[in-house]
Amino acid sequence: MNDDSTRWDERYRGAEFLLGTEPSRFLAERIEEVKRLCPGRKALDIACGEGRNSIFLARQGFSVTGLDISPVGLAKARGWAEREGLDCDFRLVNLENYRIAETYDLIINFNFLLRDLIPREVAALTQGGVILFDTILESPTAPVPHRKDFLLQPGELARLFAAYPGTIRYVAEFPVDPNPTAKLLFQKA
Ligand SMILES: C[S@@+](CC[C@H](N)C(=O)[O-])C[C@H]1O[C@@H](n2cnc3c(N)ncnc32)[C@H](O)[C@@H]1O
Repeated sequence: MNDDSTRWDERYRGAEFLLGTEPSRFLAERIEEVKRLCPGRKALDIACGEGRNSIFLARQGFSVTGLDISPVGLAKARGWAEREGLDCDFRLVNLENYRIAETYDLIINFNFLLRDLIPREVAALTQGGVILFDTILESPTAPVPHRKDFLLQPGELARLFAAYPGTIRYVAEFPVDPNPTAKLLFQKA
């Protein structure tokens, strides 16, 4: 498909799950609050990779769509969901310039940053719907990815979401962690 697709396919090629089979800690910690806030149970997992967070949400009763550019990652995610009989639909897409055609009660965006996609995510939320965001923060201890624009700047995540009608229910930055991140929970008005 493109360079990102090829690179991630190579990383996901092994039998092991590169990012593990446990959900993101932030998602697991927030899931009860998310379920309380969400008006329904339709979820979208942005850049879902091998599906660890999609699978977790489906086990929690969500009907999940996962989007990613890596056919290899998606094949692993599909196989996993099938083995467990879970309600997941994994779709091969390039999120650059991708139009999110449906609406969702929950959108998760983990370990992936495409700033232009954020307005499309907010537009695709149902009223009262929730976005959970957790990705790498620029910091002296951050592992340096090949593109600096994949890193959030300090204060940026809160600034990006302050532009939308709704409530930032949680935002925090962890600049000295081995993997520095910024995390946010936003609920649309
Ligand atoms: C660090 S992984 C995160 C996977 C998952 N969110 C997680 O936390 O387990 C980044 C993911 O972004 C996907 N990706 C990179 N560029 C993309 C693009 N343009 N469109 C869709 N997915 C993309 C990669 O294939 C990879 O699965």
